[in-house]
Amino acid sequence: MNAAHVAIEPSILYFGTPVVLLSTENEDGTANLAPMSSAWALGQVVVLGLGAEGQTAHNLRSRPDVVINLPAPHQWAAVERLAPLTGRHPVPAGKPDGCRFEPDKFGAAGLRAEPSHTVRPPRAAECPIQLEARAERVRPGVSGGFVIAEAVVTKVHADPRVVVPGTDHVDPAAWSPLIYNFRHYFGLGPELGHSYRSRTPRRVAAG
Ligand SMILES: Cc1cc2nc3c(=O)[nH]c(=O)nc-3n(C[C@H](O)[C@H](O)[C@H](O)COP(=O)(O)O)c2cc1C
Repeated sequence: MNAAHVAIEPSILYFGTPVVLLSTENEDGTANLAPMSSAWALGQVVVLGLGAEGQTAHNLRSRPDVVINLPAPHQWAAVERLAPLTGRHPVPAGKPDGCRFEPDKFGAAGLRAEPSHTVRPPRAAECPIQLEARAERVRPGVSGGFVIAEAVVTKVHADPRVVVPGTDHVDPAAWSPLIYNFRHYFGLGPELGHSYRSRTPRRVAAG
């Protein structure tokens, strides 16, 4: 039986989206690495929602190459080590209290930078899936505080353990995104079923 809904005014609307780590190139040629969760794919394009004042948005406006690194659930602590850091100096006034400048984000996260094939910023080696891309369009969001970037994927790298052997398919039973759910980290629960368009169907227990 459903209880009547209540009207609420939550401070955030982060209703559970995958975390990605964006590698971009700073002015001096070093790499920035920033966690974000406002990312989704439309075909070969990944749409990214970014705070306008951050170093990542700043980099993409001038240097559109980007790597969209997808961490696994067990890597949440590395993601959280990056959370209070910005690659922007001085730290923009609009950043939350406690946010500090860090020029070596890979080192701070404990992740290894690995060269990309089609773009300048490096990949995060430990992330099981890495999408090299180019932000072909970066424009202001409707509220002014955000930018929307549309990044065209140029190359996909995957850990063989999350690929169906002998195919180009990611195995949904082997791969789980890291989900940011109202500022808490989760992995996926057990599979419930699959789309009629799945190329990797499996029999799952009816529930
Ligand atoms: C799990 C997680 C998800 C985040 N999602 C976003 C996001 O979708 N967009 C965004 O602009 N910032 C997001 N942030 C905040 C940025 O990581 C933060 O502002 C960081 O300082 C940006 O770094 P930069 O200034 O070096 O680009 C998220 C942070 C965490 C930890």
